[in-house]
Amino acid sequence: MAQTKTPNHARGPMKCPVTLQDVDLFSPGAQEHWYEAYDILHREAPVHRIPGEGTSPDTDGFILCKHEDISRVVRDPSRFPPPKYDMPAMAPSQAPEGSPQKAAPEYTPQMNAMMISMQSLRPNMELWRAHRQQLTDPWVGPGAGRHEEMITRAVDELIDNWIDRGRVEFVEEFAAPLPQIVMNNVLGFPREDMERLRAWGVAQVKRYVYGQGHRNFLTPEEEVEQAEVLAAFSEYVQEKVSEKRQTPQDDMISWLTQVTYEALDRKLTDLEIIGIVYAMHLGGLETTQYAIAEQAQLLCEGPALFDELKADPGKIRFFVEEGLRMRAPTQGLSTRMTTQDEEFQGVKVPAGSILHMRWAAANIDPGEYECPAEIKLDRKGLTRHLTFSQGPRSCPGSGISRLEQNIAWTRLLERLDKLAYGPDNTFEHQPGIMLGTLKLNLTFEKSD
Ligand code: HEM
Repeated sequence: MAQTKTPNHARGPMKCPVTLQDVDLFSPGAQEHWYEAYDILHREAPVHRIPGEGTSPDTDGFILCKHEDISRVVRDPSRFPPPKYDMPAMAPSQAPEGSPQKAAPEYTPQMNAMMISMQSLRPNMELWRAHRQQLTDPWVGPGAGRHEEMITRAVDELIDNWIDRGRVEFVEEFAAPLPQIVMNNVLGFPREDMERLRAWGVAQVKRYVYGQGHRNFLTPEEEVEQAEVLAAFSEYVQEKVSEKRQTPQDDMISWLTQVTYEALDRKLTDLEIIGIVYAMHLGGLETTQYAIAEQAQLLCEGPALFDELKADPGKIRFFVEEGLRMRAPTQGLSTRMTTQDEEFQGVKVPAGSILHMRWAAANIDPGEYECPAEIKLDRKGLTRHLTFSQGPRSCPGSGISRLEQNIAWTRLLERLDKLAYGPDNTFEHQPGIMLGTLKLNLTFEKSD
């Protein structure tokens, strides 16, 4: 018999929060109760202080949950820039005695490449826009439609692997490999390297899974370990950039080796290209995986919705947006700071505070959305959610991610019927700041 999903309140080290004092979004087990915590924060503390966790030990972090507050912050990058330690800092307990702010860890070569390419190619908002428009939009932004055929093929091949079985472990056999295959194709990495690339992708996001607290600190040992794993990735990407500079193919890396960056009227260096590739690979994998895995759960919980979409595939794009809104893969990021004293919802937030933007909570803000916990395919302003952020620094890969999700559900709904939870699901999530379901056994029938 099909399993039903119940809240994970009995699982993991943390109990479900009941009062504001219980709310902790970052300790082990917190991920099983995030949405209960958001209800409490919306009711009692939509601007929630985390003492001593700002840009320095004498400043604080603030969790923002209101749609209007986060929207205001992300649309004004000069007033709310990235935190001063815009490279990952060490936990205060690990900083040397007397250190005013942080100890800079050894950065991995990839982090360096990413920071260097950011500083040289887009040091200000004007160049940030130019960079996006010319270098990434044609591949992963509004121009992502060029990949439609490739993505459809990838989706169908994955489904072919298990459609005759009547059951699938959906995370490992669909949601995770799809974005990896897609990004490999976009960037121009060979298919036979898929396994290693997957392992590097996992290493890249380690900070957001195992990092401590809202600033995603890794311990010095973890930093070293990560740097070792990723050193090989760095060499690999350098090799590919050199090869493609010599013999360009039809892919994003080859194109980056040839293009003249109009805003600076020059070609890109290898290091700058590696920085872009690193960011694409970091941003483009697990996020889309989590989105698709969450959408599968929404459909298992709503068989009538499944039938409605199957009967009218034109509604799939509305479902994808509602899925992204209700189950944001990136739940929150501490990537902005205050440069002057501010006030949000009557709460004073001094200069030097770190703002943790809780996109997922803002997406169910009752002040913004009618019946926020319901999927409404006819909701007005379906794309107003904050899952990809907003404003000039918003996610550059939203175009290709949306396309992957839309094609995935178009093909899945056409080829499958009676999607339901299979046995042995615990519905547990990985720790960190991403909404990552670890495993998802599903059953289905093959469509006629
Ligand atoms: C469902 C999937 C995705 C989600 C939820 C997501 C979410 C986000 C969010 C919230 C940000 C921060 C924006 C801000 O600070 O204002 C971001 C940035 C970023 N994302 Fe995504 N993202 C997704 C898919 C992708 C894909 C497919 C790519 C690449 C192909 C990508 C590449 C990036 C990069 C490079 C950044 C850093 C900003 C920049 O360098 O311009 N993301 N994303």
